[in-house]
Order: sequence, then C-alpha cells, then structure tokens
Amino acid sequence: MTVVTLARETDWEGWRSAARRLRQGAVRPDEVAWRVGEGDLFADAPPGPAVAATPFTVPPAFVDLAKDVVCHRAEDRFALLYRILWRLKDEPTLLGLRTDADVARALDMQKAVNRASHKMKAFVRFRQVPDADAETYVAWFEPAHRVLERTADFFVRRFANVRFSILTPDMSCHWDGEALTFAAGSTRADAPAGDELEDFWRTYYASIFNPARLKVRAMTSEMPKRYWRNLPEAVLIPGLIADAERRMETMVESEPTTPSRRLAAAPALPVRNPESGEGTIPELATAIQECRRCDLWRDATQGVPGEGPTRAEIMIVGEQPGDVEDLAGKPFVGPAGQMLDRALAEAGVARDRLYVTNAVKHFKHELRGKRRLHKTPETGEISACRWWLDRERRIVAPKLIVALGGTAAAAVFGRAMPILKSRGKVFELDDGARAIITVHPSYLLRLPDEAAKARAYADFVEDLTSARGLLG
Ligand code: URA
Repeated sequence: MTVVTLARETDWEGWRSAARRLRQGAVRPDEVAWRVGEGDLFADAPPGPAVAATPFTVPPAFVDLAKDVVCHRAEDRFALLYRILWRLKDEPTLLGLRTDADVARALDMQKAVNRASHKMKAFVRFRQVPDADAETYVAWFEPAHRVLERTADFFVRRFANVRFSILTPDMSCHWDGEALTFAAGSTRADAPAGDELEDFWRTYYASIFNPARLKVRAMTSEMPKRYWRNLPEAVLIPGLIADAERRMETMVESEPTTPSRRLAAAPALPVRNPESGEGTIPELATAIQECRRCDLWRDATQGVPGEGPTRAEIMIVGEQPGDVEDLAGKPFVGPAGQMLDRALAEAGVARDRLYVTNAVKHFKHELRGKRRLHKTPETGEISACRWWLDRERRIVAPKLIVALGGTAAAAVFGRAMPILKSRGKVFELDDGARAIITVHPSYLLRLPDEAAKARAYADFVEDLTSARGLLG
C-alpha cells in the first residue's frame, strides 16, 4: 500500500503532483491510501514513472471539478478523485457520464462546495474589534465545507479598504489592506460578540425585510438555521415573521424608500460557464449563481433568480436587480418593488401568484464613491441573459408575460420594442404565450412632477388591471 500524506485538508497542488506520479507509475487506486497531516509527502514513496510511461493530459473540466471537490469534507475525496483520474486515461469521456457512480458523486460534492461558498458570501457578518489601533473587523463563520481559501478573495475585493479577519474552525484569513494571509483555524471565542454596526445592520435588515413575500419555509431553506447564530439580524426574524401581516398592510399604503447600504465591487473569479440548470426553478436559481455568460457577475453580490409559483399564469419581467435586490438575492424588493407591489395590490393582482423575474440576473452598476449607481444593461448582456429567461419561460409556461420597460420587452421579444406605442396592445409570442408591455416602476419613481407621476401611476395600474382581465 502506498500512503500519501498531504500537507493540508485542501492541498490541491499536493494531491495533483502525487496523483500524477502515481498514475504514471501505474499505481492502482486500491493500492493508495490518502492521508492529511504532518509528515513527508510520500511516507511510502510511489514508484517513479514506468519506463515507457506516456504522459497523459486530463480535460480542463476535471481540473475544475477536482479543485472544488478537495474542499469537500468527505474523508474519501482524494481517493475518489484519484479513481476518476485513473479511469480517465482509458475512458476519456467519463466526465460526461453523469450516471456513473463516481462522476455523480463528485458532481454532487462540487455542487455542495459551490453552495457552501455562496452561503459564506451571503452570511458572513463582520464585527468591529473594540480598541484596535486601526479600524478592524472580525467575522466568525462555520462553512459547511472548507471554502475559506477560495472565497476569501470575494471579501478582499469587496472590503479592500478595511482590515479584516475571517475565522473558521478550519483556518482563518487576514487582510491588512495589502496582503491576504492564511493561518490556523480558530474558535468562536476569538471573534468579538457584537458592535454598533450590528445595530445598523439590524435596522437595515428590518427595513428591507418584505412581509409581502414572507415564505418561512423558503426563508429557512435559503438561510439555514445553522447560520442564524452568527447573524445579528437573526434575532429579528421571529418578530418580523409574527408582525408580517400588519406590516404588509402598512406597506401597501406607504411610499417607497431609498436603499441605504452600498457596497464596493466584488472580486474577479475564474471564468466558468456551466450550461446547466435546465430542470426546475430551484435548480435554475442555483445554477444562476455560477453564470459567466457575460461579465456582470463580477461586480454583483449574487445572481438574482426569478421567484414565484412554478406554474404561475402571469410572469412579470423587469430589467435587472437593483441595489437592494442584489443584496437580498430576491427580485423587486427595493423601491421599484414596493411601487410594483402597491400597483399590483390596487389592480387586484396577488403578487404571490405571479412569477416575478428580470431580463438580466445580475446588478449592473457603477461606483460613485461608495454608492452603486444603476446602469442600463447593454444589448449583448440582455442577449446573454436571455438564455435564463428562456428557460424560466419554458419551465413556468405562463399564459401572459408582462414586460416592464424597454429592457424587459427586448428580452421577451428578442428585439427592441417601442414602449409607449406598444402599450395597450396584446402580442402573441412564438411559444403561445401572450404578452403586454408597460412602463417600468422605476420610471414612475423618477418622474419629477407629482401630477405627472400620479397620472403615469394610474396608467400603470390600469395596465396591470388589464393583464388580470386578459386571463379572466
Ligand atoms: N428593477 C427591476 O427591474 N428589477 C428588480 O428586481 C428591481 C428593480
């Protein structure tokens, strides 16, 4: 038996060089034991390349897969990868065989690791270190898999100007404003417990919490309880849920508000373009997080998928997530969303029976100081993202699509449509659905003159009422 001792739990380079030598030396998978810990890389050195060993290359998809899988907590991850590597030489198309037990398991593990990384981006909360010489923040986080190394860059790009540490039980990372370093794991006791920022964050969270779209099951699946104990806003959740109905009534009557939190740019990640996620809406929602079809993902917090019943009769298509949606990961929950909710309520359309989505799934913006200002997506970005909208249309198969504004209309029809001239018309689409075009609620928010705003709002409500009428 050849025992290979890797330097760390996520030692991708160590695994790769050992696996390459083992494969070239024709050492069979069942003759190798993989360990992690102190010691020589090869406690029992594997043979060198066989005399006539022919070097063989692996497909880039395997390298991507293996880099992800080494971050999984499964004990046998290195052995599984070596088994796949071993087989790839004689079965070069193995990775395409999703029914193969090894491949299926590795793909599941890859998905779990990507999900853990996504959760980390969403749920890490920093606390200020009291009495530190320079402004310093620390976060404690327990990722489902060992994703700190691959996710740390995200925080560096986002919080480039502040010093911070992220502590996890596996390892910690430290950013001093110039360099990112990694060190041993840590304990929760090493992170400060609370600070003034938390009060600010709680106030912000309570203000973006949208009682109209409260779905406790979905909320607890997207924000699993295992993360709650480290989230300052978690203490609010039971109260917000209990108070949701009363707030919904107030919200329907109230004016829209302006989002208060702006963040800096997100990191560049390796470009990937998984053409997956045809199946269900939840699968699509997960796959959108991996979308690299255009560059907008780079500066966005996350992809914002559509939301609503899979068999909704009406699909509302907006332009793209705004600042608040980008942070919350849900469409139309910011000021434009509140305007839309109000108009839907007046039109007698229940939002929870609609499928609400956007033409473009990532927030396009430019930074002005610390503010993230909306930028209209370009034709290429709309076309790239149509791939997702088309899938949503195929899955939901709505009878009626309501396009809000020019970007949405271009995405739905596949060409530019004149908004004001198209208003009041009902179009037949190729897939048999009907479509109407109306203005975008942000347009109403931007109108400077109150009288014009009231008129435009009344027309908007009328368009939504006629949409309801079209379905009887
Ligand atoms: N504007 C949109 O078009 N979509 C959103 O989700 C929010 C604002």
